[in-house]
Amino acid sequence: MKFFVDTAEIDAIAELNDLGMADGVTTNPSLIMKSGRDILEVTKEIAEMIDGPVSAEVVATEAEAMIAEGRKLAKIADNIAVKVPLTWDGLKACKALSADGHMVNVTLCFSINQAILAAKAGATFISPFIGRLDDINLDGMDLIADIRQVYDNYGFETEILAASIRSVNHIAESARIGADVITAPPGVIKAMVNHPLTDKGLATFLADWEKTGQKIL
Ligand code: E4P
Repeated sequence: MKFFVDTAEIDAIAELNDLGMADGVTTNPSLIMKSGRDILEVTKEIAEMIDGPVSAEVVATEAEAMIAEGRKLAKIADNIAVKVPLTWDGLKACKALSADGHMVNVTLCFSINQAILAAKAGATFISPFIGRLDDINLDGMDLIADIRQVYDNYGFETEILAASIRSVNHIAESARIGADVITAPPGVIKAMVNHPLTDKGLATFLADWEKTGQKIL
């Protein structure tokens, strides 16, 4: 399973990258806004640090303009994945940009049918949004499982990039189902390490060690 980091914060990406836990990065207009950085500058900086795909999202809504923006974003670095929304125009842009040889991440996916269309339009990644489905009282994990089944039924090569991840349970479930990639905020990835029995066990070991009066160094 590949881990993409869902942020445009350079320091957080660097920390995970140093541990081999950043196989890629995803950004979106909201994350660029939060970073306070210029999209071209920050995306270039991220793409230079990370070996894997770095998603940068178009903001035009009409196909021709999306394609033009996508081509400009793709010029930033060879590892840019152009992110387009799952609209009819977005699918046209996906087809054209993937025909150019660019990686394309089709985002804002909320149904199996949308995922099928993205695969047929040549998407490199499909981004189903788990958390936003949970927000409206649907089960985002069901969508990941459904897309996995349909893509496997037909041998679609588009990678399932589980997005809008809000909890460590979303990551564990995505792994169990067989999502190819998860993208999650740095804090959620780091929270995967937590377990109360680890903390309790360590406290006991350290207390017992203290009683021995020994030192290793
Ligand atoms: C990543 O590609 C998505 O844009 C991101 O995961 C959306 O997350 P959110 O629903 O928490 O904003």
